[in-house]
Amino acid sequence: MRILVVGGGGREHAIIKALKKCRDCGEIFCAPGNGGIAKDATLVDIGAKDIEKIRDFAVENKIDFCVVAPDDPLVMGAVDLLNEAGIRTFGPDKKAAIIEGSKAFSKDLMKKYGIPTAAYETFDNVDKALEYVKTCSIPVVVKADGLALGKGVLICETRDEAVSAVKTIMEDKAFGKSGDKVVIEEFLTGPEVSVLSFTDGNVVVPMVSSMDHKRALDGDKGLNTGGMGTIAPNPYYTEEVAEECMEKIFLPTIRAMKAEGRTFRGCLYFGLMITPDGPKVIEYNCRFGDPETQVVLPLLESDLLDIMLKTYEGTLSPEDVKFSDGCACCVVMASEGYPVSYEKGFPITMPEDRNIYVAGAKLEDGVLKTSGGRVLGVTETAPTLREAIDKAYETVSHVSFANAYYRKDIGKRALEAEK
Ligand code: AMP
Ligand code: GLY
Repeated sequence: MRILVVGGGGREHAIIKALKKCRDCGEIFCAPGNGGIAKDATLVDIGAKDIEKIRDFAVENKIDFCVVAPDDPLVMGAVDLLNEAGIRTFGPDKKAAIIEGSKAFSKDLMKKYGIPTAAYETFDNVDKALEYVKTCSIPVVVKADGLALGKGVLICETRDEAVSAVKTIMEDKAFGKSGDKVVIEEFLTGPEVSVLSFTDGNVVVPMVSSMDHKRALDGDKGLNTGGMGTIAPNPYYTEEVAEECMEKIFLPTIRAMKAEGRTFRGCLYFGLMITPDGPKVIEYNCRFGDPETQVVLPLLESDLLDIMLKTYEGTLSPEDVKFSDGCACCVVMASEGYPVSYEKGFPITMPEDRNIYVAGAKLEDGVLKTSGGRVLGVTETAPTLREAIDKAYETVSHVSFANAYYRKDIGKRALEAEK
């Protein structure tokens, strides 16, 4: 089968490497991909948000199966366009992708169907929002309604911070139209767990759990980023928690979406917090997480293409999805200064025989050079978490580029929790 993967980061590289191992996988194209992905797929010079051009490319090049990975094209309706053109595509349609595209939608869905989440209020009027934060309990979390590259969530420790958060989002429009509405919600505490799942709209099959490290600096300090590293499985996600999540969160969400006429097919990501009152939903994503995918897919033993096709066709069953008992660790190597400002264009040297996913690099005269904030996702698997972490950092020691920055404590909290 000729396959087109839409997107161009470390997540897409991990998806492509997993697809290459599949029985029916033929040539893989990637739009736009990146200089590192070029080794594993034929790059197509079309941006992920250029969804009409993507559809035209898929039709003209007789693509048999398409995977749309990033949030933007999914929320814009890329899957609808591709399906209408007769291209079988993995991913939710526009109606279902709203579960990530609008936080107000997802919060209202959870309220309506009794799915555990933080208490909240939604505002589309700045004065009302400011009025509310005068009296609400503190700390409080202020979120832009729409997509904001993972940066539209402001955790406010004081009332003044809450006031300026509302102003930043609704008046200054720091996240553009995504800030036309805000969700203001209760601050929850507890360890976070990411669970990606395959769902065909009826059956939901969770993948191995994982833990992201969102903050830029060691010890979970510094700014929020897209993710500085991941481990899998997440030790906080015990069998007991998993059962509770299936019963109270995963199945109710799939059924709720179907009942709303928004049947979700694809990868549904549950961002969970294990609070003292049990697991609650922090966010839904309508896609594979980045860098969660980089630790989850290396542990998948089943044929990813087969799973994706069954998800598309609506014939998925839990037996189709098998993971190994092993562990994985991904250390993100970023450009110093990420997520704010950073220099790029530096040559990268890295070992050929290790599992390194390329997130932000381009080829210039055959030389791979840094081109983004997150540059590489160095990933290793091993029978235990300790070994996976040690192996990943060992591989990191063989990689070099100017201005490289990475966290030294990926997996540390998970190791402590294991004890
Ligand atoms: P989100 O983009 O919604 O996943 O939020 C980004 C991060 O903000 C999450 O990973 C949490 O660490 C934190 N966060 C979001 N909502 C809450 C909440 N209600 N209580 C505490 N932390 C939160
Ligand atoms: N790593 C979190 C996300 O993909 O949104």
